[in-house]
Amino acid sequence: MAGTFITFEGIEGCGKSTQISLLAEYLARKGNEVVLTREPGGTQIGERIRSVLLDASHDGMAPIAELLLYAAARCQHIAEVIRPALDAGKVVLCDRYADATTAYQGAARRIDAATLAEVHRIATGGLMPELTILLDCAPSEGLSRAHARIAAGGQAAHEDRFEREAMAFHERVRQGYLAIAKSEPGRVKVIDASASIEEIQMRIADAVEKFLCNNLCDKTYVSTLVR
Ligand SMILES: Nc1ncnc2c1ncn2[C@@H]1O[C@H](COP(=O)(O)OP(=O)(O)OP(=O)(O)O)[C@@H](O)[C@H]1O
Ligand SMILES: [Mg+2]
Repeated sequence: MAGTFITFEGIEGCGKSTQISLLAEYLARKGNEVVLTREPGGTQIGERIRSVLLDASHDGMAPIAELLLYAAARCQHIAEVIRPALDAGKVVLCDRYADATTAYQGAARRIDAATLAEVHRIATGGLMPELTILLDCAPSEGLSRAHARIAAGGQAAHEDRFEREAMAFHERVRQGYLAIAKSEPGRVKVIDASASIEEIQMRIADAVEKFLCNNLCDKTYVSTLVR
């Protein structure tokens, strides 16, 4: 692909939205064309699906219905936003993507791996990020930050369906993410999210610079081969 696809993952309140905005500013300052987007959402259709998924009154949602709604939002997001931006050579930064489905609907809701793989294949056509930043912290820390944000009247004015889940659910999500990182260490960089915002920002910038440098070398190498 011409552009670069980077995703941010991690449990509720770990700092994804904070850090992805800081990285977007950093990369834009360095002259990159950056598209910052999020899941579920990122499109008009996706944002409507997001409100169905996060609505705390929808506590009877069947796990497979949840899985398919995420997949539908993702499919639209790829078609409308991610693919066109990548084809135009932009850097796409996405706040949650397919790994979130593996962690939440797979590890936490216990949907089997074969079903997940099939739905991923249908929804994404195999499009995966080249780099994923996994912000890792204890669920107690993430959730207390998310609750403090809600109390301060931040981006979400109320608790969503996932924030209401028990601590054991969030622990399974965390372990699900760590298992992905273990199986794909080249793609997924785990960053300790219990550090300060500035410290994390520096570690992410470092990981992204290293990745872009290697990526550029690879692409230059391939283009020399092609020539
Ligand atoms: N490293 C940090 N230390 C302390 N507070 C932080 C840190 N990072 C983010 N915060 C604060 O914690 C709250 C949650 O952060 P943020 O919204 O970025 O998390 P998130 O991972 O996007 O959450 P969600 O999964 O709910 O979207 C915010 O109020 C933010 O200012
Ligand atoms: Mg967020």
